[in-house]
Amino acid sequence: MDSQYHKGLHYFALATAGATFLLLIAGALVTSNDAGLSVPDWPLSHGQWMPEMVGGVFYEHGHRMVATTVGLLTIVLNIWLWKVPSYPWVRTLGLVALGAVITQGVLGGVTVLFFLPTPISVLHASLAPLFFCMVVTLAVVTSPDWVHLSRSFRDGWRKVKKGADRELKLAILTTMALYFQHVLGATVRHSGTVNGTKGAVLVTSALVAHLVGALAATGLILFVARVFTKRIHDRSILRLVYLQLFLLFVQLLLGWGAYLVRIDPATQVQPSVSGVWITTSHLTVGVLLLVTSLVVTLRLLHNVALRDRGPVPEPTLAGQTV
Ligand code: HEM
Ligand code: HEM
Repeated sequence: MDSQYHKGLHYFALATAGATFLLLIAGALVTSNDAGLSVPDWPLSHGQWMPEMVGGVFYEHGHRMVATTVGLLTIVLNIWLWKVPSYPWVRTLGLVALGAVITQGVLGGVTVLFFLPTPISVLHASLAPLFFCMVVTLAVVTSPDWVHLSRSFRDGWRKVKKGADRELKLAILTTMALYFQHVLGATVRHSGTVNGTKGAVLVTSALVAHLVGALAATGLILFVARVFTKRIHDRSILRLVYLQLFLLFVQLLLGWGAYLVRIDPATQVQPSVSGVWITTSHLTVGVLLLVTSLVVTLRLLHNVALRDRGPVPEPTLAGQTV
Protein backbone atom coordinates (compact mmCIF):
# COMPACT_ATOMS: atom_id res chain seq x y z
CA MET A 1 0.00 0.00 0.00
CA ASP A 2 1.18 3.51 -0.82
CA SER A 3 0.86 6.56 1.44
CA GLN A 4 0.01 10.20 0.68
CA TYR A 5 0.36 13.43 2.58
CA HIS A 6 -2.95 14.51 4.12
CA LYS A 7 -2.62 17.98 5.55
CA GLY A 8 -5.85 17.61 7.57
CA LEU A 9 -4.73 14.29 9.07
CA HIS A 10 -1.32 15.68 10.01
CA TYR A 11 -2.82 18.76 11.67
CA PHE A 12 -5.39 16.61 13.44
CA ALA A 13 -2.61 14.37 14.79
CA LEU A 14 -0.74 17.52 15.92
CA ALA A 15 -3.89 18.79 17.67
CA THR A 16 -4.33 15.41 19.39
CA ALA A 17 -0.72 15.59 20.59
CA GLY A 18 -1.33 19.16 21.85
CA ALA A 19 -4.49 18.09 23.69
CA THR A 20 -2.62 15.14 25.23
CA PHE A 21 0.07 17.49 26.51
CA LEU A 22 -2.65 19.58 28.21
CA LEU A 23 -4.12 16.35 29.60
CA LEU A 24 -0.80 15.44 31.23
CA ILE A 25 -0.71 18.87 32.88
CA ALA A 26 -4.35 18.45 34.01
CA GLY A 27 -3.43 15.03 35.49
CA ALA A 28 -0.36 16.44 37.25
CA LEU A 29 -2.60 19.14 38.78
CA VAL A 30 -4.85 16.42 40.24
CA THR A 31 -1.91 14.78 42.01
CA SER A 32 -0.21 18.03 43.06
CA ASN A 33 -3.47 19.34 44.57
CA ASP A 34 -4.13 16.00 46.33
CA ALA A 35 -7.45 16.07 44.48
CA GLY A 36 -7.53 12.41 43.35
CA LEU A 37 -10.30 11.47 45.78
CA SER A 38 -12.37 14.66 45.45
CA VAL A 39 -14.60 12.56 43.22
CA PRO A 40 -14.85 9.13 44.85
CA ASP A 41 -16.93 7.37 42.17
CA TRP A 42 -16.32 6.40 38.55
CA PRO A 43 -17.38 6.45 35.69
CA LEU A 44 -19.90 9.02 37.02
CA SER A 45 -18.68 11.93 39.16
CA HIS A 46 -20.69 12.27 42.39
CA GLY A 47 -23.38 10.29 40.57
CA GLN A 48 -23.61 12.85 37.73
CA TRP A 49 -22.08 13.50 34.31
CA MET A 50 -21.42 17.13 35.27
CA PRO A 51 -20.95 17.79 39.02
CA GLU A 52 -20.48 21.25 40.51
CA MET A 53 -16.88 22.22 39.75
CA VAL A 54 -15.83 23.32 43.23
CA GLY A 55 -12.63 22.64 45.21
CA GLY A 56 -10.74 19.51 44.16
CA VAL A 57 -13.67 18.43 41.94
CA PHE A 58 -12.55 21.12 39.49
CA TYR A 59 -9.20 19.32 39.04
CA GLU A 60 -10.44 15.71 39.19
CA HIS A 61 -13.57 16.07 37.04
CA GLY A 62 -11.77 18.58 34.78
CA HIS A 63 -9.06 15.95 34.21
CA ARG A 64 -11.72 13.36 33.35
CA MET A 65 -13.31 15.76 30.84
CA VAL A 66 -9.99 16.48 29.10
CA ALA A 67 -9.24 12.71 29.14
CA THR A 68 -12.60 11.98 27.47
CA THR A 69 -11.84 14.60 24.80
CA VAL A 70 -8.42 13.04 24.11
CA GLY A 71 -10.04 9.57 23.95
CA LEU A 72 -12.52 10.85 21.33
CA LEU A 73 -9.74 12.56 19.36
CA THR A 74 -7.79 9.27 19.35
CA ILE A 75 -10.83 7.41 17.97
CA VAL A 76 -11.26 9.98 15.17
CA LEU A 77 -7.52 9.85 14.43
CA ASN A 78 -7.78 6.07 14.00
CA ILE A 79 -10.79 6.32 11.69
CA TRP A 80 -8.90 8.89 9.61
CA LEU A 81 -5.79 6.67 9.43
CA TRP A 82 -7.96 3.83 8.08
CA LYS A 83 -9.80 6.06 5.62
CA VAL A 84 -6.73 7.40 3.83
CA PRO A 85 -3.92 5.31 2.34
CA SER A 86 -1.55 4.78 5.29
CA TYR A 87 1.15 2.23 5.89
CA PRO A 88 0.03 -0.74 8.02
CA TRP A 89 2.54 -0.02 10.79
CA VAL A 90 1.21 3.54 11.15
CA ARG A 91 -2.35 2.17 11.44
CA THR A 92 -1.14 -0.40 13.97
CA LEU A 93 0.49 2.35 16.02
CA GLY A 94 -2.83 4.24 15.95
CA LEU A 95 -4.62 1.17 17.30
CA VAL A 96 -1.99 0.63 20.01
CA ALA A 97 -2.44 4.28 21.04
CA LEU A 98 -6.21 3.73 21.21
CA GLY A 99 -5.68 0.64 23.39
CA ALA A 100 -3.34 2.69 25.60
CA VAL A 101 -5.80 5.55 26.10
CA ILE A 102 -8.62 3.10 26.97
CA THR A 103 -6.35 1.25 29.45
CA GLN A 104 -5.30 4.61 30.88
CA GLY A 105 -8.92 5.63 31.43
CA VAL A 106 -9.65 2.31 33.19
CA LEU A 107 -6.53 2.65 35.36
CA GLY A 108 -7.64 6.18 36.29
CA GLY A 109 -11.06 4.87 37.32
CA VAL A 110 -9.64 1.87 39.20
CA THR A 111 -7.14 3.99 41.16
CA VAL A 112 -10.05 6.17 42.34
CA LEU A 113 -12.28 3.22 43.27
CA PHE A 114 -9.46 1.64 45.32
CA PHE A 115 -8.39 4.91 47.04
CA LEU A 116 -5.26 5.58 44.96
CA PRO A 117 -3.13 2.47 45.64
CA THR A 118 0.51 3.28 44.83
CA PRO A 119 1.04 0.57 42.13
CA ILE A 120 -2.07 1.62 40.15
CA SER A 121 -1.30 5.34 40.47
CA VAL A 122 2.30 4.67 39.35
CA LEU A 123 1.03 2.61 36.38
CA HIS A 124 -1.44 5.39 35.47
CA ALA A 125 1.35 8.01 35.71
CA SER A 126 3.74 5.81 33.67
CA LEU A 127 1.40 4.88 30.82
CA ALA A 128 0.53 8.57 30.29
CA PRO A 129 3.91 9.64 28.80
CA LEU A 130 4.03 6.41 26.77
CA PHE A 131 0.66 7.25 25.21
CA PHE A 132 1.90 10.81 24.59
CA CYS A 133 4.99 9.40 22.80
CA MET A 134 2.72 7.32 20.53
CA VAL A 135 0.58 10.33 19.57
CA VAL A 136 3.67 12.49 18.98
CA THR A 137 5.09 9.74 16.74
CA LEU A 138 1.83 9.68 14.77
CA ALA A 139 2.01 13.48 14.37
CA VAL A 140 5.61 13.22 13.14
CA VAL A 141 5.12 10.34 10.67
CA THR A 142 2.04 11.94 9.07
CA SER A 143 4.09 15.07 8.22
CA PRO A 144 5.07 15.80 4.58
CA ASP A 145 8.73 14.94 5.31
CA TRP A 146 7.78 11.42 6.21
CA VAL A 147 5.06 10.32 3.90
CA HIS A 148 7.33 9.02 1.14
CA LEU A 149 9.67 7.51 3.66
CA SER A 150 7.33 5.40 5.71
CA ARG A 151 8.20 2.12 4.03
CA SER A 152 11.95 2.71 4.07
CA PHE A 153 11.53 3.90 7.66
CA ARG A 154 10.25 0.42 8.51
CA ASP A 155 13.23 -1.11 6.69
CA GLY A 156 15.48 1.38 8.51
CA TRP A 157 14.03 0.21 11.80
CA ARG A 158 14.92 -3.39 10.93
CA LYS A 159 18.50 -2.23 10.38
CA VAL A 160 18.42 -0.51 13.76
CA LYS A 161 17.61 -3.84 15.35
CA LYS A 162 20.62 -5.42 13.61
CA GLY A 163 22.98 -2.65 14.72
CA ALA A 164 22.57 0.98 13.76
CA ASP A 165 24.52 4.24 13.71
CA ARG A 166 26.15 5.23 16.97
CA GLU A 167 24.13 8.48 17.12
CA LEU A 168 20.85 6.68 16.60
CA LYS A 169 21.66 4.13 19.29
CA LEU A 170 22.60 6.94 21.65
CA ALA A 171 19.34 8.79 20.97
CA ILE A 172 17.30 5.60 21.57
CA LEU A 173 19.18 4.93 24.80
CA THR A 174 18.60 8.52 26.03
CA THR A 175 14.88 8.31 25.22
CA MET A 176 14.59 5.02 27.10
CA ALA A 177 16.56 6.40 30.06
CA LEU A 178 14.31 9.47 30.24
CA TYR A 179 11.22 7.28 30.20
CA PHE A 180 12.66 5.10 32.97
CA GLN A 181 13.45 8.26 34.93
CA HIS A 182 9.81 9.29 34.54
CA VAL A 183 8.68 5.95 36.02
CA LEU A 184 11.09 6.43 38.95
CA GLY A 185 9.74 9.98 39.42
CA ALA A 186 6.17 8.61 39.46
CA THR A 187 7.26 6.09 42.11
CA VAL A 188 8.66 8.89 44.29
CA ARG A 189 5.52 10.95 43.76
CA HIS A 190 2.98 8.23 44.58
CA SER A 191 4.78 6.15 47.20
CA GLY A 192 4.71 6.97 50.89
CA THR A 193 1.34 8.67 50.52
CA VAL A 194 -1.90 7.94 52.38
CA ASN A 195 -5.03 8.01 50.24
CA GLY A 196 -3.24 10.22 47.75
CA THR A 197 -2.13 12.89 50.21
CA LYS A 198 1.54 13.55 50.85
CA GLY A 199 1.01 13.42 54.62
CA ALA A 200 3.13 10.29 55.02
CA VAL A 201 6.85 9.79 54.34
CA LEU A 202 9.10 10.44 51.39
CA VAL A 203 10.36 6.95 50.53
CA THR A 204 14.14 7.36 50.55
CA SER A 205 14.97 4.31 48.39
CA ALA A 206 12.66 5.62 45.62
CA LEU A 207 14.22 9.08 45.88
CA VAL A 208 17.77 7.65 45.75
CA ALA A 209 16.89 5.60 42.64
CA HIS A 210 15.41 8.77 41.07
CA LEU A 211 18.58 10.73 41.90
CA VAL A 212 20.78 8.03 40.36
CA GLY A 213 18.46 8.16 37.35
CA ALA A 214 18.85 11.95 37.22
CA LEU A 215 22.63 11.54 37.19
CA ALA A 216 22.46 8.97 34.39
CA ALA A 217 20.00 11.07 32.35
CA THR A 218 22.15 14.19 32.81
CA GLY A 219 25.29 12.29 31.75
CA LEU A 220 23.56 10.91 28.66
CA ILE A 221 22.10 14.27 27.58
CA LEU A 222 25.50 15.98 27.98
CA PHE A 223 27.20 13.16 26.06
CA VAL A 224 24.58 13.37 23.28
CA ALA A 225 25.17 17.14 23.05
CA ARG A 226 28.95 16.61 22.81
CA VAL A 227 28.77 13.87 20.16
CA PHE A 228 25.98 15.44 18.11
CA THR A 229 27.48 18.93 17.92
CA LYS A 230 30.63 17.31 16.49
CA ARG A 231 29.07 14.76 14.15
CA ILE A 232 25.55 15.83 13.18
CA HIS A 233 24.92 18.58 10.64
CA ASP A 234 21.11 18.45 10.55
CA ARG A 235 20.14 21.85 11.99
CA SER A 236 16.72 20.68 13.21
CA ILE A 237 18.39 17.98 15.32
CA LEU A 238 20.95 20.38 16.75
CA ARG A 239 18.21 22.85 17.70
CA LEU A 240 16.44 20.08 19.61
CA VAL A 241 19.68 19.09 21.33
CA TYR A 242 20.21 22.69 22.54
CA LEU A 243 16.59 22.82 23.68
CA GLN A 244 17.19 19.63 25.62
CA LEU A 245 20.20 21.14 27.40
CA PHE A 246 18.06 24.08 28.47
CA LEU A 247 15.21 21.82 29.61
CA LEU A 248 17.67 19.67 31.57
CA PHE A 249 18.96 22.72 33.44
CA VAL A 250 15.40 23.81 34.31
CA GLN A 251 14.45 20.24 35.26
CA LEU A 252 17.32 19.84 37.72
CA LEU A 253 16.31 23.09 39.44
CA LEU A 254 12.66 22.02 39.52
CA GLY A 255 13.71 18.59 40.87
CA TRP A 256 15.45 20.27 43.77
CA GLY A 257 12.34 22.43 44.26
CA ALA A 258 10.06 19.35 44.16
CA TYR A 259 12.19 17.75 46.85
CA LEU A 260 11.88 20.83 49.09
CA VAL A 261 8.11 20.89 48.50
CA ARG A 262 7.82 17.22 49.34
CA ILE A 263 9.67 17.52 52.66
CA ASP A 264 7.97 20.78 53.69
CA PRO A 265 5.63 19.95 56.62
CA ALA A 266 3.27 22.81 55.68
CA THR A 267 2.55 21.43 52.18
CA GLN A 268 1.87 18.02 53.71
CA VAL A 269 -1.21 19.50 55.36
CA GLN A 270 -2.41 21.67 52.47
CA PRO A 271 -0.69 21.91 49.05
CA SER A 272 0.67 25.45 48.54
CA VAL A 273 0.25 27.29 45.23
CA SER A 274 4.03 27.46 44.70
CA GLY A 275 4.36 23.77 45.61
CA VAL A 276 1.69 22.80 43.07
CA TRP A 277 3.38 24.97 40.46
CA ILE A 278 6.81 23.44 41.09
CA THR A 279 5.77 19.76 41.12
CA THR A 280 3.46 20.16 38.11
CA SER A 281 6.25 21.91 36.20
CA HIS A 282 8.75 19.19 37.15
CA LEU A 283 6.45 16.57 35.61
CA THR A 284 5.73 18.74 32.55
CA VAL A 285 9.38 19.54 31.81
CA GLY A 286 10.20 15.83 32.33
CA VAL A 287 7.65 14.96 29.64
CA LEU A 288 9.07 17.66 27.34
CA LEU A 289 12.59 16.25 27.79
CA LEU A 290 11.29 12.80 26.89
CA VAL A 291 9.46 13.86 23.72
CA THR A 292 12.36 16.06 22.58
CA SER A 293 14.58 12.99 22.77
CA LEU A 294 11.93 10.94 20.95
CA VAL A 295 11.67 13.50 18.14
CA VAL A 296 15.49 13.55 17.81
CA THR A 297 15.40 9.74 17.53
CA LEU A 298 12.66 9.86 14.90
CA ARG A 299 14.55 12.51 12.94
CA LEU A 300 17.70 10.35 12.95
CA LEU A 301 15.64 7.35 11.81
CA HIS A 302 14.20 9.57 9.08
CA ASN A 303 17.71 10.46 7.97
CA VAL A 304 18.79 6.80 7.92
CA ALA A 305 15.73 5.97 5.81
CA LEU A 306 16.42 8.96 3.53
CA ARG A 307 19.99 7.81 3.01
CA ASP A 308 18.83 4.32 2.05
CA ARG A 309 16.10 5.53 -0.23
CA GLY A 310 17.90 8.23 -2.18
CA PRO A 311 16.18 11.38 -3.55
CA VAL A 312 12.64 11.90 -2.32
CA PRO A 313 9.87 13.31 -4.55
CA GLU A 314 8.19 16.56 -3.53
CA PRO A 315 5.41 15.84 -1.04
CA THR A 316 2.03 15.74 -2.75
CA LEU A 317 -1.34 16.54 -1.31
CA ALA A 318 -3.99 13.82 -1.26
CA GLY A 319 -5.58 13.51 -4.69
CA GLN A 320 -2.52 14.82 -6.62
CA THR A 321 -0.31 12.47 -8.59
CA VAL A 322 3.45 12.44 -8.22
C1 HEM B 1 -7.36 8.68 29.32
C2 HEM B 1 -6.28 9.37 29.42
C3 HEM B 1 -5.65 9.81 30.71
C4 HEM B 1 -4.37 10.29 30.80
C5 HEM B 1 -3.36 10.45 29.66
C6 HEM B 1 -4.14 10.61 32.20
C7 HEM B 1 -2.97 11.16 32.69
C8 HEM B 1 -2.73 11.43 34.01
C9 HEM B 1 -1.51 12.00 34.52
C10 HEM B 1 -0.29 12.39 33.69
C11 HEM B 1 -1.65 12.12 35.86
C12 HEM B 1 -0.60 12.69 36.82
C13 HEM B 1 0.17 11.61 37.45
C14 HEM B 1 1.18 12.20 38.39
O1 HEM B 1 1.09 13.37 38.74
O2 HEM B 1 2.07 11.46 38.81
C15 HEM B 1 -2.96 11.64 36.22
C16 HEM B 1 -3.45 11.60 37.50
C17 HEM B 1 -4.70 11.11 37.82
N1 HEM B 1 -5.66 10.66 36.93
FE1 HEM B 1 -5.48 10.48 34.95
N2 HEM B 1 -5.26 10.31 32.91
C18 HEM B 1 -6.22 9.84 32.05
C19 HEM B 1 -7.49 9.45 32.38
C20 HEM B 1 -8.04 9.43 33.64
C21 HEM B 1 -9.40 9.03 33.97
C22 HEM B 1 -10.47 8.62 32.95
C23 HEM B 1 -9.52 9.11 35.29
C24 HEM B 1 -10.80 8.77 35.99
C25 HEM B 1 -11.00 8.73 37.17
C26 HEM B 1 -8.24 9.58 35.84
C27 HEM B 1 -7.95 9.79 37.18
C28 HEM B 1 -6.77 10.27 37.67
C29 HEM B 1 -6.49 10.46 39.08
C30 HEM B 1 -7.42 10.16 40.24
C31 HEM B 1 -5.19 10.97 39.19
C32 HEM B 1 -4.42 11.31 40.47
C33 HEM B 1 -3.75 10.05 40.93
C34 HEM B 1 -3.02 10.20 42.24
O3 HEM B 1 -2.89 11.33 42.75
O4 HEM B 1 -2.58 9.16 42.77
N3 HEM B 1 -7.36 9.76 34.79
N4 HEM B 1 -3.60 11.23 35.06
C1 HEM C 1 16.87 14.60 34.39
C2 HEM C 1 16.44 14.82 35.58
C3 HEM C 1 15.05 14.51 36.09
C4 HEM C 1 13.92 14.09 35.43
C5 HEM C 1 13.76 13.80 33.93
C6 HEM C 1 12.87 13.97 36.42
C7 HEM C 1 11.56 13.61 36.14
C8 HEM C 1 10.56 13.52 37.08
C9 HEM C 1 9.19 13.27 36.78
C10 HEM C 1 8.65 13.12 35.34
C11 HEM C 1 8.50 13.22 37.95
C12 HEM C 1 7.00 12.99 38.11
C13 HEM C 1 6.59 11.66 37.51
C14 HEM C 1 5.11 11.43 37.57
O1 HEM C 1 4.54 11.53 38.63
O2 HEM C 1 4.52 11.12 36.53
C15 HEM C 1 9.43 13.44 39.01
C16 HEM C 1 9.12 13.49 40.36
C17 HEM C 1 9.99 13.91 41.35
N1 HEM C 1 11.31 14.27 41.16
FE1 HEM C 1 12.33 14.28 39.44
N2 HEM C 1 13.38 14.31 37.65
C18 HEM C 1 14.70 14.65 37.50
C19 HEM C 1 15.56 15.08 38.48
C20 HEM C 1 15.23 15.24 39.81
C21 HEM C 1 16.13 15.74 40.82
C22 HEM C 1 17.59 16.19 40.58
C23 HEM C 1 15.45 15.75 41.99
C24 HEM C 1 16.01 16.25 43.29
C25 HEM C 1 15.89 15.68 44.40
C26 HEM C 1 14.09 15.25 41.71
C27 HEM C 1 13.08 15.10 42.64
C28 HEM C 1 11.81 14.66 42.41
C29 HEM C 1 10.78 14.54 43.41
C30 HEM C 1 10.91 14.87 44.90
C31 HEM C 1 9.63 14.08 42.75
C32 HEM C 1 8.25 13.82 43.38
C33 HEM C 1 7.50 15.12 43.43
C34 HEM C 1 6.18 14.98 44.17
O3 HEM C 1 6.09 14.19 45.10
O4 HEM C 1 5.25 15.72 43.83
N3 HEM C 1 14.01 14.96 40.37
N4 HEM C 1 10.70 13.63 38.47
